[in-house]
Amino acid sequence: MACTEALGIFLLALLSFFSRDGTATGLSPDQDEPAVTRLREYLRIETVQPFPDYLPVTRFLIQQAQTIGLDSKILEFAPSKPVVLITWTGRDPELASVMFNSHTDVVAADPSEWTHPPFSAHMDSEGNIYARGSQDMKSVGMMYLEAARNLIDAGFLPLRSVHFSYVPDEEVGGVDGAESFVNSPDFDDLNVAVVVDEGMPSPNAKYRIFNREKILWSFFVRAVGSPAHGSRLLDSMAVENLRQVLNRVAAFRESQINLIKTGMVAGEGDVASVNNVYLKAGTPTPTGFVMNVQPSHAEAGFDMRIPPEADAEALEELITKEWAPASHNLTVHFVTKQNTCDENGRYMVTPVDDSNPWWVLMRDVISQAGGNLGQPETRIGASDSRFVRRKGIPAFGFSPIANTPNLMHARNEFLNAKEYLKGIKVYEEIIKAFSGPHDAKGKLDTVESFYVNHDKLESIPENIHIEL
Ligand SMILES: *[C@@H]1O[C@H](CO)[C@@H](O)[C@H](O)[C@H]1NC(C)=O
Ligand SMILES: [Zn+2]
Repeated sequence: MACTEALGIFLLALLSFFSRDGTATGLSPDQDEPAVTRLREYLRIETVQPFPDYLPVTRFLIQQAQTIGLDSKILEFAPSKPVVLITWTGRDPELASVMFNSHTDVVAADPSEWTHPPFSAHMDSEGNIYARGSQDMKSVGMMYLEAARNLIDAGFLPLRSVHFSYVPDEEVGGVDGAESFVNSPDFDDLNVAVVVDEGMPSPNAKYRIFNREKILWSFFVRAVGSPAHGSRLLDSMAVENLRQVLNRVAAFRESQINLIKTGMVAGEGDVASVNNVYLKAGTPTPTGFVMNVQPSHAEAGFDMRIPPEADAEALEELITKEWAPASHNLTVHFVTKQNTCDENGRYMVTPVDDSNPWWVLMRDVISQAGGNLGQPETRIGASDSRFVRRKGIPAFGFSPIANTPNLMHARNEFLNAKEYLKGIKVYEEIIKAFSGPHDAKGKLDTVESFYVNHDKLESIPENIHIEL
């Protein structure tokens, strides 16, 4: 008995020696980090749209929270669509809190197009981890928790409460996820002052950061007229009227592209985009279309994205009066028409100047953590950030992933283990800064004063309350 036990302990010691050292596994120290192992575990959970099973991922997240020592709860706004809310209660829970949001779902991945199966989280010899969700955005969700784990290990105690939210269904519009959550009394109870959510990977050394996103207006134009023989040369035909709409849209589109080409704007985020996404006309036959009839109906669909500070009224005039005037038998039908204003009637833009202490903190700590931050950008696609910005809450889209091609929704999406570990360090700094006190100009009180010996909790100074 005694011998077996001794041998067991010896074997265990041997095994752990090899796995730490890496010689037995062939992995570099970075690749062998427990944080990397946990990320790969998360990436292997298949929360794939359109039919994600959120149960395993919920279990995983709650278990992570438990091992770190954080509270967690499940909120459900639609059946089987859990929001996992992990909370690190601050020393002054009365203060406004900070939130780090991520979505747990991913878009589909066709294994036949991938070099490694998209849910194997295969890591190559360079430390590149291939998985759907490695950029968008399970990696970021795990950075939050790993940063919290490291800070707890170091004895850090936040002053404000810090919430890590894990929401479903971002990839299908967020209606049953972030939108329901953010509009719920549960969210209001959290008294959230600022939210950090997903950004995008950067192909160069500069991290990307987003303080606004384009507003979606999708619509179709319907043209109605009389049918006519294919031989007639009339100028009031439905297809002809619709073609003129397409011409006017094309001219506008060209003007926006030219703004980018001539350097008048920084990029696609600062102009309106409009793309024709479908065309419908003609009289079908079993083998094709009737060729000698000009049809009485024609329709074209458009995806239009406008910068958040665009003049919505002027744009609507442009669409309904100039592009598709009723006098040409044209009607405009909006499918999606997102509001350009938030609930307080302000633009849905998070300020990135000294008026916003959160921005000052964000900018300063990222550089303190050795990160190189690019100019704030407009996100051209939608993210869950829009739901909080709509409530007037500042939100930053920030995925600390540099030197990585943007493969969100693409094949062979990957993230390097080193880049991931660097991201954790960056989030440690952000959490420290955001959860601490600061004056109106965003100047940090000494971060060091927030490292508290667990045994000396009583001796926390009382004079550091700063309300937002
Ligand atoms: C609008 O439709 C009516 C009825 O079909 C037609 O008489 C008229 O010419 C059309 N106008 C234009 C500008 O196409
Ligand atoms: Zn995403």
